[in-house]
Amino acid sequence: MAERDLTTLDLESLWHPLTQHRGLDQSPPLRIESASGCFIVDSEGRRYLDGVSGLWCVNIGHGRSELAEVAREQMERLAYVPLTFSHEPAIRLASKLVDLLGYEGRVYFSNSGSEANEAAIKIARQYHAQSGAPPGRVKIIARHRGYHGNTLGALSATGQAERRQGYEPLLPGFLFVDAPDPYRNPGDAAAALEEAILREGPETVAGFLMEPIIAGGGVLVPDDAYLPKVREICDRHGVLLMLDEVVNAFGRTGAMFAHRHWGVEPDILTLAKGIASGYMPLAATVVKSHVFEAFGGTPGDLSHFRHVNTYGGHPVATAVGLRNVEIIEREDLVSRARETGASIMTRLKGLLDHPNVGDVRGKGLLIGIELVEDQATKRPLDWKPLAAIVRRCLGQGVIIGRNTNTSPGLGNVLILAPPLVIAPDETDLLLSALECALYEELPAG
Ligand SMILES: Cc1ncc(COP(=O)(O)O)c(C=O)c1O
Repeated sequence: MAERDLTTLDLESLWHPLTQHRGLDQSPPLRIESASGCFIVDSEGRRYLDGVSGLWCVNIGHGRSELAEVAREQMERLAYVPLTFSHEPAIRLASKLVDLLGYEGRVYFSNSGSEANEAAIKIARQYHAQSGAPPGRVKIIARHRGYHGNTLGALSATGQAERRQGYEPLLPGFLFVDAPDPYRNPGDAAAALEEAILREGPETVAGFLMEPIIAGGGVLVPDDAYLPKVREICDRHGVLLMLDEVVNAFGRTGAMFAHRHWGVEPDILTLAKGIASGYMPLAATVVKSHVFEAFGGTPGDLSHFRHVNTYGGHPVATAVGLRNVEIIEREDLVSRARETGASIMTRLKGLLDHPNVGDVRGKGLLIGIELVEDQATKRPLDWKPLAAIVRRCLGQGVIIGRNTNTSPGLGNVLILAPPLVIAPDETDLLLSALECALYEELPAG
């Protein structure tokens, strides 16, 4: 179909996420037609370096025909059967995840990060209801600036006002504490969690849900003491530690799972994105055995997990997910992300000379650059100059991200999260574009 026709059809029929449609006809979204490695190619043949891996998900890079082959073979053999039956790809991927995690656990598959968190919240509540806790141990504590998904449960645990506005009231029983933010708020964020648990009454709190490194909220890396302290506090009060590693896992932070950086293990872990590198929609909620055991009543009672997704653990998605994880291991992309991330960080530290760069931070290939009006006051830069920087990078054929629609006044973080396979010359292209865009005069806020 001719170019113009597709653009017209797009503008007449598609509803794009996170997009203000008024005025979109003046600058319609780029139509992407193909992708390979770290590059995507638009309908006019322009190539862009994908510095955010789609939506932080294409960990192994684009265009792996090996995965297309796995999908084709699986589709021909068995395209679909629900997981009320069983099948080999789901068994093998679940077993692989448990092996990689290194503790005994069970894997519940779904299709998106939001659904994985939705399942986690329901599991936490049902676990307590069936573990002899007094009735009413249902509250979930989450964190300001954290994101857990678009469904009403996951959104209720999301501490980003701009994502919630217009969809409220959300579910009762969710409350928020501050996340560690060594740049803006170097206090003891773990102590704030314990205060919240005590204030609410531990017997009312089911779980604490957090991203080890907050991603979309602005790439907030905790200090090293935080997660071990959180683990202790959760243990002390019988609260389940629920880690959302939808973005963090599968090498993104330079570890297979981010919690490894701090030597803690979660009771419930949610995974998506890098689990299949965006080649198929797939997510998982992994619980430790002690959680799973609470679901073993007697046949016929209601103690089992009464939650079902038609497509959760889809044969094609799990077959592709398994091969994707094997590729991450085979090519040692975890070490590669760690090493590339360290060299990017060294170069980015040079940006701290720029008057508007307040902080550069990250782990592995999950990197944030916080922009301020002035380094001394740390007053956040308005989002408009950030949008201009992103546009300028795009003009140079490089896609970078920024945190949009999160917390009022804090849309001031540029984001880099390229595929883990990014090569040194591609890294150079990414950073050169960013430096150029930043050192051109910034428009007023
Ligand atoms: C940390 C985190 N959790 C959950 C989600 C939701 O995942 P999905 O968009 O696949 O529903 C996201 C999405 O970006 C995320 O960043």
